[in-house]
Amino acid sequence: MGGMVTEAIRKRVEALREEIEYHNFRYYVLDQPEISDAQYDRLLRELEKLEEEYPEVRSPNSPTQRVGAPPLDAFEIVRHTLPMLSLSNAFDEDEVRDFDKRIKKFLGTTGEIDYVVEPKLDGLAVELVYERGLLMVGSTRGDGMNGENITQNLRTIKTIPLQLLRREIAVPERLEVRGEVIMQIKRFEELNRRRQEAGEPPFANPRNAAAGSVRQLDPKVTRERPLEIYCYGIGEVIGKTFTTQFEILQTLPKWGLRTNPHVRQCHHIHEVIDYFHEMNEKREKLPYEIDGIVVKVDRLDFQARLGEISRSPRWALAVKFPAKQETTKVLDIVVQVGRTGALTPVAVMEPVKVGGVEVSRATLHNQDEIDRLDVRIGDTVIIQRAGDVIPEVVQVISSKRKGTEKKFKMPSHCPVCGADVVKEEVIYRCIGLDCPAQLKGRIRHFASKRAMDIDGLGVKLIDQLVDKGLVKDVADLYYLKKEDLVALERMADKSAQNIIDAIEKSKTKPLAKFLFALGILHVGETTAEDLAHSFPHLDDFFRLTEEDLMKVEGIGPEVSASVVRFFRDKKNRESIERLKKAGIRLIEPKPKEKGRLAGKVFVFTGALKSYGREEARNLVESLGGKTASTVSKKVDFVVVGEDPGSKLEKARELGIRILTEEEFKKMIG
Ligand code: IVH
Repeated sequence: MGGMVTEAIRKRVEALREEIEYHNFRYYVLDQPEISDAQYDRLLRELEKLEEEYPEVRSPNSPTQRVGAPPLDAFEIVRHTLPMLSLSNAFDEDEVRDFDKRIKKFLGTTGEIDYVVEPKLDGLAVELVYERGLLMVGSTRGDGMNGENITQNLRTIKTIPLQLLRREIAVPERLEVRGEVIMQIKRFEELNRRRQEAGEPPFANPRNAAAGSVRQLDPKVTRERPLEIYCYGIGEVIGKTFTTQFEILQTLPKWGLRTNPHVRQCHHIHEVIDYFHEMNEKREKLPYEIDGIVVKVDRLDFQARLGEISRSPRWALAVKFPAKQETTKVLDIVVQVGRTGALTPVAVMEPVKVGGVEVSRATLHNQDEIDRLDVRIGDTVIIQRAGDVIPEVVQVISSKRKGTEKKFKMPSHCPVCGADVVKEEVIYRCIGLDCPAQLKGRIRHFASKRAMDIDGLGVKLIDQLVDKGLVKDVADLYYLKKEDLVALERMADKSAQNIIDAIEKSKTKPLAKFLFALGILHVGETTAEDLAHSFPHLDDFFRLTEEDLMKVEGIGPEVSASVVRFFRDKKNRESIERLKKAGIRLIEPKPKEKGRLAGKVFVFTGALKSYGREEARNLVESLGGKTASTVSKKVDFVVVGEDPGSKLEKARELGIRILTEEEFKKMIG
């Protein structure tokens, strides 16, 4: 035991807490640590020791206390000092312009209004109350007036400071700050993967995962969930006045509170509309889900005059993007046979618009997934479409069941060729050797953009070619004559010639593309690249053994066996011979660059202390790496120097590794 707590000890404890909180902010919020992990651990350990020795100095706001308190039986109710309002919605440009007109009319002005815009995050709204800089209470929005006290859960979220920073500006007596707790899409997918492995039901979307995690009675569970916060506004504040929304959003980070990097000030409603379109484009690239943008009148005195109407402020508006999830009815469940013979159950649904696109089919993946969701024909379901991904059924609304719904079972024979269906793990496969569905699938894959890229050879044409017996194998494509095509339905002379030209043009291809196009089981684009680099001549493949293949980095027994099996197969060998005879010319890959940084792309932002920009670039290149001047998905590392620019923001957004100058130095050795 340490005995009396002296003033010096108290001071040291305070200083440590503040310093640790500052480094948390650098690390979790800015992603720009100033000290090493080891240095950070030393500070934390010193604090832990003092708190252990002197129980009087312990505090729930100490950075040592993010571990998760004991579970609760129920949440307490917290009354919000100022109600947490909702937002009225707009769905198109006209409604945004109407909003601007309404505001000008209400304020009796003809001058332009300044607005602040930012993404509308799809998570859970919370309020944090800081008194003299210390986090006292955190709560959910609840019904707007009363929320649930979830303080101990919020304390486990690393982007929420337990105490505010006071290095730049003083902290107010009381600060109520509001924000959205979210889960990044990647983290959500990881979480679901782990849950499924553990036999737990997955969450339907990141929003549900975030909300479910925040409202856990056991904070230790919340602590394991990858949650984050973005702050967007304030409630009651005592001891600090603001004049604009923009000023609020610029001040919050000075206290260590994270705001969204996409916040923007607009001086005209046109700029708001431009921003809406910009974010809609960017939407798929963001690491988290957003469902629209939020527009707020910038001046707080205007906000006060505008007031609220039916629980929504007149001075704010949510402009929603087209929804990505929709509800519809399953009319039937049919089976599709893919190029490998795999049977995929597909829900045929009443058509609905999802994310602006009409959808009438959604994949159900496999029988296990159907069982897990318990989807039946006639069910009302939630479907989802994300980016270019095939729409999928995510949930059944069981309360809509009438009792007349019919269960589905996988057929025991291929619905296309009648051959037997066998089950391999979760996959049901048609074993028919001449299954037309498999052949069509193989040709579609062979001709696709990322494979041989035969322009104009679409689904309908492939169906006809196979059904008419004109193509029995991919090699037959290269023996087609214009007359064969002209004889087909809806095929003009000109289009037939275009297809013949496209087939001719596809004859020259890199070996990797060709290997991928063959559709060898387990050989995706990356594996095809790896194979082509190790064995640059097609003929090599006929002689390769599994042992030869296993020597290639990243290629395991499953892939090796599959490749060997493919090239030993008599039909496949004949097909490749005929492709060669038809004049296929394969380009050998360039040898891979050597060097420690081979294949890695670097971007620099801000000034480096030890190197000039050009010098740093040359260094990377001398080690086989590449450099770029703008941040994109292709970039592996962003090296951050003094006074970094917007590239840092961009890198964070895309989840690209950020290196300090020190880390960069270590990497290049
Ligand atoms: S402002 C009066 N800003 O949307 C202002 N809300 O429908 C009300 N939300 O409960 C909130 N991102 O959960 C605001 N940048 C943002 C937001 C945002 C998400 C949510 C929040 C709120 C709901 C209002």
